[in-house]
Amino acid sequence: MVLLQRRVLFVCLGNICRSPLAEGVFRHHVKQAGLEEQIYVDSAGTASWHTGKKPDIRSIQTAQKHGVDISNQEARQLEDEDFEKFHYIIAMDASNLSNIQAKAPYLHTANIRLLLQDEQKDVPDPYYGANEGFDEVYDLVRDGTYNLLQEIREEMEPTEI
Ligand code: 4NP
Repeated sequence: MVLLQRRVLFVCLGNICRSPLAEGVFRHHVKQAGLEEQIYVDSAGTASWHTGKKPDIRSIQTAQKHGVDISNQEARQLEDEDFEKFHYIIAMDASNLSNIQAKAPYLHTANIRLLLQDEQKDVPDPYYGANEGFDEVYDLVRDGTYNLLQEIREEMEPTEI
């Protein structure tokens, strides 16, 4: 049986706060569903400022509180190849979405959209705010990534899941 691997990329601005948390929490949902072989997960930032850095300590600690380890992730910038490699490119907020769309090649097959597409809501940037902002990001990311996984499962062939 040929399995088509689905590849999902979470994107924010710096790739140190929101998208690493989304990557870690989504991967956690994927593992719980037993779909690690079928779904590949990564994250990136539209900016290059933090390339090579670990996630922000506040994101690492927020993830840890919920049993998710994101401490081994390393920030990278969104690149042209991502638009060929990934089936889903998931933006944390409307500004990320327009930056991704501006970078996208004219012809591409990636499904580019907001994490909280149904609600048309942003995952707010917590970088300059208080620690509680990270709890809010976690709650939004947990629900958004859970719904995304259900959507992807519905698109997969019944024989694959
Ligand atoms: P992120 O948060 O996009 O969720 O990773 C930010 C991280 C860094 C900066 C802004 C937002 N910054 O200005 O350096």
